[in-house]
Amino acid sequence: MPDLLQQINPDKLPVHIAVIMDGNGRWAKTKGKPRVFGHRNGVIAVREVTEAAAELGVKYLTLYAFSTENWSRPAIEVNALMSLLVDTVKKELATLNKNNIRLRAIGDLQQLPDKTHKALLEGIEQTKDNDRMTLILALNYSSRWEIVEATRAIAAKVRDSQIALEDIDVNLFSAHLATRDFPDPELMIRTSGEYRISNYLLWQAAYAELYFTDVLWPDFRKEHFYRAILDFQSRERRFGKTSEQLAHAI
Ligand code: FPP
Repeated sequence: MPDLLQQINPDKLPVHIAVIMDGNGRWAKTKGKPRVFGHRNGVIAVREVTEAAAELGVKYLTLYAFSTENWSRPAIEVNALMSLLVDTVKKELATLNKNNIRLRAIGDLQQLPDKTHKALLEGIEQTKDNDRMTLILALNYSSRWEIVEATRAIAAKVRDSQIALEDIDVNLFSAHLATRDFPDPELMIRTSGEYRISNYLLWQAAYAELYFTDVLWPDFRKEHFYRAILDFQSRERRFGKTSEQLAHAI
């Protein structure tokens, strides 16, 4: 593992990494345990990846913790996930502060249970001055929800003559998304062998490099995270240009 770490070029780190933490339920099933057991062990991976990202110097890490579609899971699982979030945020607060990590959240937070919402807002408030890395939890989040919300907000401003129709462009639209304070992710990782984006940062991932691994989220460790970054660093990011154009730009 130290070898992997040494191979990483610190000058070519993705500034923002987004993760779809998938496979908790299947991991639990292989062990003959309830799905919640998988989520609880998923927290260990959350801790590992957060630590690894901060140590490397990644500035933004976004984790998909709960989608707007996840409400349709059995109530027992939804409740357990909400409690787990409260417990984890409370338990990890001191560590976040010790490591100078700022907590933020994106999603329809008002619709979360009061306890979860409150713990989250407290965590955000108590870490707001930290500036080493921003850990963003996507909670009750989905891209379609976010894009519809942004569209509504922009339409209302046009209606109220605060902006003109011609003012609407990519930058203005981005400035109305939940991620307005953060740069777009450059690397998106999904675990558990699924090859989908699942309504996650669809606008923001326009140029993200996608990385898929078969590892189930509770088994995901620093070593797997380093591999994803090394893979990212081996790719040529062209942003619609040709290789030749990129070579001449240097
Ligand atoms: C996906 O696995 C995982 C989730 C829907 C929840 C992720 C939550 C955690 C890791 C715990 C809390 C997180 C934080 C940030 C404190 P799945 O249940 O869809 O797995 P499956 O596809 O195998 O069923």
